Amino acid sequence: MRSRKPKRGTCRAFQRLLTVVRQQKRTGFGMRVVAIENGTIAFATENGIRTVIKDIDFSIHEGEKIALYAPNGSGKTSLLRAMTGLNPLTCGRVLFHETAVCSEKDFARLRRSVGYVIQEAADQIFFPRVLEDTVFGPLNLGLSPEDAEKRALQALATLGIDSLANRETHHLSGGELRLVALAGILAMEPEVLLLDEPTNALDAASTKRLTDILRKLPTAQLTVSHDSAFLRNVAETFYTIRDGNIVHLPDFQAFA
Ligand SMILES: Nc1ncnc2c1ncn2[C@@H]1O[C@H](COP(=O)(O)OP(=O)(O)O)[C@@H](O)[C@H]1O
Ligand SMILES: [Mg+2]
Repeated sequence: MRSRKPKRGTCRAFQRLLTVVRQQKRTGFGMRVVAIENGTIAFATENGIRTVIKDIDFSIHEGEKIALYAPNGSGKTSLLRAMTGLNPLTCGRVLFHETAVCSEKDFARLRRSVGYVIQEAADQIFFPRVLEDTVFGPLNLGLSPEDAEKRALQALATLGIDSLANRETHHLSGGELRLVALAGILAMEPEVLLLDEPTNALDAASTKRLTDILRKLPTAQLTVSHDSAFLRNVAETFYTIRDGNIVHLPDFQAFA
């Protein structure tokens, strides 16, 4: 007689699918692109282990625009770094299109689709001229030099900084550097954008331009910032970190 009990693997896969469907229903967004399940981020310090965030069950769905607003030192950057494998999770796992990301090779693949614009924009720029830097990502994806340049110019134009294409990167202002770093990521046409304090060093006009761009961009976004007015304008799903837990907020007002 055949056993009625489902195979262990089948059951897990079914449960995972059920979770995805429930989440889709809750959020109204498409499939999950990247997720952390049962995650803990902790660091060894001279006084022992310091747990920064625990019980992380956090997903970014296709087209979802998420804001994460939390005080300094609460673990926002650590979360982005864990999601992209730059600092491994202490416990738990990262999923990319519902598949566990385990090896550095897997994370390298994830980072081609999950574009992380780090807080220190200057550290993300490696080449002496803007266009050279912006073209690097698409070239690295295997595009021909012509197509890579087309993509790079398009990304610069999208951000309204095509006039910077031939400028030397070490002469750029902080705000310009930030936009060039973002252009380098956009040129790779990621599925998800992770933005760490993107308004740092931007003046009011550049912040307004970035707000308009992010609103128009269909790419899913997780924006981490201490600038709540900016977040209100670029996101529709809001989270904070409270006592080491990621908390989903019903609306922007709950940031207060
Ligand atoms: N590599 C590390 N080693 C030890 N502690 C770290 C490391 N990275 C971050 N931390 C600590 O984790 C906490 C959260 O840091 P971070 O994620 O940068 O916060 P946020 O981005 O919210 O300001 C801080 O107390 C920070 O000192
Ligand atoms: Mg930070």
